[in-house]
Order: sequence, then C-alpha cells, then structure tokens
Amino acid sequence: MIKPATGRSVMLACDHGYFMGPTRNLESPRKTIEPLLPYADTLAVTRGVLRTSVDPKWDTPILLRVSGGASILKDDLSDEEVTTSIREAVRLNVASVALSIFVGAPHEKQSLVNLSRLVDDGEDFGIPVMAITAVGKELDKRDAKYLSLACRVAAELGARIVKTYYCENFSKVVNGCPAPLVVAGGPKLNTEEDVFNLVYNALEDGAVGVDMGRNIWQNENPVAMIKAIRSIVHEKATVKEAQLIFSENRKVNPKKAESSANA
Ligand code: R5P
Repeated sequence: MIKPATGRSVMLACDHGYFMGPTRNLESPRKTIEPLLPYADTLAVTRGVLRTSVDPKWDTPILLRVSGGASILKDDLSDEEVTTSIREAVRLNVASVALSIFVGAPHEKQSLVNLSRLVDDGEDFGIPVMAITAVGKELDKRDAKYLSLACRVAAELGARIVKTYYCENFSKVVNGCPAPLVVAGGPKLNTEEDVFNLVYNALEDGAVGVDMGRNIWQNENPVAMIKAIRSIVHEKATVKEAQLIFSENRKVNPKKAESSANA
C-alpha cells in the first residue's frame, strides 16, 4: 500500500456508503472507481462494494472497511462494532483492514476495544490494521490537541497506520504518533487549490500520504484531481505544479471551448 520507492501512498477512499448510503458521485461505485484506479496505490471499500463493484482482474491492494453499525440517521455515529471478520478479510485477499475509533465520544471505550481486538486478530494473519480517527461531535474537528491524542491512542493500541484529518499545527499530530499517518480530505473543499494545499502541507508536516474520497470523485474532473494529487504525493510537486497537471488533464467543457475558439 505504501510504495517503497517514495515511502508514500495515494489511497482512494470509496467506503462512505457504509454509513452515508449512496453518496453523491458514488451511487454506482464501479463507475466511480474504474477510471481512478490506475492512479491509486490502494482502494478503500467495504466487502459489499468489493464483491459487487471491483473487478477481480484489478490488482490494486484493498483496504477493507470492517467497522459499522450506525448510519447518518442516528445522532450518535460512535456506536460501531466490527462488522466483518478477519476470516472474511483473508478470504477476500485484502492488504489491510480499517475501522473507526471515536475518542471522546459516547462509545469511546467500545471503539477502542474494537480496535485492540481487531489488531489481535489481524496480527494472527499478518494483516495490518488502520485506525480512523473519527471525531466526536462535541469536539473541534480540526484541533491538533484532540487529533494528536486520538492518533496516539490508536498507535498505542496497535494500529499499523492511522488515518486522520489535516489541521493547523499538524506536525504536532505527526510527532506524537509513532505509526505512519495518512490524511482524509473530508467534505468537498471550495477549490482545487484548497485540496492541493491540504495535501502538500500534510506531507510537508510528515504524513505518508492521503486516503481521500470526496475531494477526488465529487470534483467535475476526478481523474485530473487524482493525477494532480499523485504528483504531490510521489513526485513532490508544488501546489502550482499540481494545478498545472490538473489543468492539463481536465476535460474541456465544450461550451467554454467553443466560446474561446470564437473569441
Ligand atoms: C469515512 O468515514 C471514510 O472513512 C472515508 O474513507 C474518509 O472520510 C475519507 O474520505 P473523504 O476524503 O471523502 O473524507
């Protein structure tokens, strides 16, 4: 999942349906995933999407989401259990498994015990576990004090890799976490430049990559987005260089092209 040549990774997150249902632009997972896969080092999905929407011929390593049990219709999203067994993960030939922890939320203890047990099971089979630091509603989503606590707890309980959110003072989060960190993108940002800045700054601060979804496939030009993000992650492109790659690869809107040709 983490490429040896750069020590970094572009993970494509497509597991949102397990609690959000048919998220915009992920209604038909196969359609969303297929064009993006050549540029992803890892694909994050649930077993349902893996079975129905991922061609066995595709050889991208799979990060299998194995926690769930709450949907966005509930106030408390922290009430999760492990929903897929390690035997199933082995049978599905996945590279890694992922679950959410909810530090500071009503079901904090349950989610941390879920993580610890999953690590025990994963280690038996040589399957690394990613902990995802989902954030309790009462806490500030992008606070380094909170995220460094949550990431450190995840690493101490045995997570081999931790996914979290970028925030101000992100180096504090990285420095306090002995396991490698990747960042999620969160809800779609206003501009492509905002996304490239997030990726660039997270890597500068020490993240080993991204596990990103909506800011790629909710963009009008998802392939151009993932190519540009990949250039930052693996080629150390600057934000300006990433913007150039995005512009070169985006589909030209026929109406705009026509008006500029007539100008
Ligand atoms: C959500 O819980 C999932 O773990 C997503 O994989 C994660 O939030 C990354 O996706 P996005 O970049 O859309 O936030």
